[in-house]
Order: sequence, then C-alpha cells, then structure tokens
Amino acid sequence: MSINGTTKLYGILGHPVAHSMSPAMHNAALAGMGINGVYVPMDVQPSDLVAAVTGLRALGFIGLSVTVPHKEAVMACIDEIDPVAERIGAVNTLLFRQRPGEEKVTVRGFNTDWLGSNLALAEKIQLAGSRVLVLGAGGAAKGVCFGLVEAGAEVLITNRTEQKGRDLADWLGCTFISADQLGSVRADALINTTSVGMNPYAENIALDPGLLENFKVVMDIVYAPLQTRLLREAAQAGCRIIDGLAMLQFQAAVQLKIWTGKQPSSDVLRQALLDELAGR
Ligand code: ATR
Repeated sequence: MSINGTTKLYGILGHPVAHSMSPAMHNAALAGMGINGVYVPMDVQPSDLVAAVTGLRALGFIGLSVTVPHKEAVMACIDEIDPVAERIGAVNTLLFRQRPGEEKVTVRGFNTDWLGSNLALAEKIQLAGSRVLVLGAGGAAKGVCFGLVEAGAEVLITNRTEQKGRDLADWLGCTFISADQLGSVRADALINTTSVGMNPYAENIALDPGLLENFKVVMDIVYAPLQTRLLREAAQAGCRIIDGLAMLQFQAAVQLKIWTGKQPSSDVLRQALLDELAGR
C-alpha cells in the first residue's frame, strides 16, 4: 500500500522502542484490513512525553500504543480515560477522536493488556470459576492478574521478592503463595509473567518442572525463544500450552478494534509476529 494524502497515522511510543514487535504486527493487520494506514515506532524520552502526545494530536494521528516506561505517565496527557484503565492505573492505548460538530480532538486512554491475556487463555479454558497461579508481580503480572480477577478466576500469585507479590495480591484481593507452598498448588492454569527463560538464558525455567503436572494449561509471556523451556516441559507433562505471541496478538487486535472499529484477522497478526521473530 502506498502512502498518500489520506494515509491514516498510528504508532507506538516507548523508550526504548526499537525491539517492539508492534510495527510489524499492526502494519500487516492494517494492510490485511484494507486500511490505508501506517504504524510507526517512536522513541520518546520521558521528559518529552507531553510534547509528543500534543504534537501527534496536532499532526492528526488516530491511534497510539504506549509502552514502557510511559504507561502511567501518559495518563497526565489525556482528556478522558476508560474506567478499567483508570482502575488499573495504566494506559497502553490512545485514541484521538474528533466528535461531530466539535473542533477539538479528544484523546482517550484505554488499557488492552489485561484483555490480551484473557483472550489468549479463553481459547483453552473457561476463566470464570477457574483457579490460576501467576508467577511474577511486575508490570506484566499486574495486567494479567487484573484480567483474571475481572473474568472471575481465583488468582494465586507467587514472586521472587515476596513483598512485591504480597502487595499485588493485596491490591487485587488474591492469595500470595510463598516458594515453599508451591508444591501443594493445583490449578487450571499457570502463567509465567517473569522474564525467566528468555534468550540468552533460555535454559532457565520459572518453576520446578516436577510441578508442571499440577496444571492443565501453561502460558508463558516470554516469546524469545517461542518454545521456552517452560512450555516444552509443560507439553511433556501433558499440559496444553499457550506461547508468548498469543497475548501480544490478542491485545493488538483489541487496539485495532478501538482505532478502526473493525476486527483484524488473528491469522494475519500471528503470521506477522512469526515472520518478525524469524527475521531477528
Ligand atoms: P515486567 O514489566 O515485564 O513485568 P518487571 O516489572 O521488571 O517487568 O517484573 C519482572 C518480574 O519478573 C518480577 O516479578 C521479577 O521478580 P522480582 O519482583 O523479585 O524482581 C521477576 N523476575 C525477573 N527475573 C527473575 C528471576 N531470575 N527469577 C525470578 N523472578 C524473576
């Protein structure tokens, strides 16, 4: 698709941003949806964030993804916030909208991170009434655990740094599990939200492999490598597995729906991610 006078503008704000898979995924999806649009990565220093959002609004951008470290600070740059994003305290999606009859372009913030993990899991288990153990208590865990609670799952959280895990569990009304209690946990799903197992330390695993048989479904948010040791061992233990691209793909689909009103093809999004990974 060639860029011309009616090309719609989208992008991602982060720092750093060069590693992001989002441009590959969103550009493929926009093309697949027949939308004359382009999605560009923008490396923005935290001190420039307000100026960047103001400038992109003036330039007529339609939608932005927002990633680390801007997800909380960007809340000061928007006119409206989706109630769920407000409860989470983080925004990863901006929509620039000019309402009929109004001159001003309004910036609305959303959070689609929690929906990405819920939609990925929902392909394999019914979340309402299920029990899920989450490994980790960082930024990714926050979105994942929020989504699970929202969907009616019972959430157990464990983390290397106990206090951080307990704080997240308290915030959401979940249970904290200490390392010595892990052996007695049985659950429908296990989710690794830590970076353990990521290249170049791909032989590391976030949970004792001997415990994997205690879970029906295992999801990893690490996607490099795609088949992490956790997922390999889980498959051998008889678990159904969900790789780290699923969450990315589903949260991007929600963003595209917010920006365009249309549902992108899951296959196009996933293939773009696989192609991008293969080229790295
Ligand atoms: P993100 O935003 O990607 O979640 P983060 O906020 O830095 O990143 O959180 C990383 C998570 O991975 C944390 O739960 C971290 O545990 P700590 O709270 O103890 O730091 C976890 N993590 C990272 N490296 C780990 C390791 N080698 N072993 C166990 N947990 C690890």
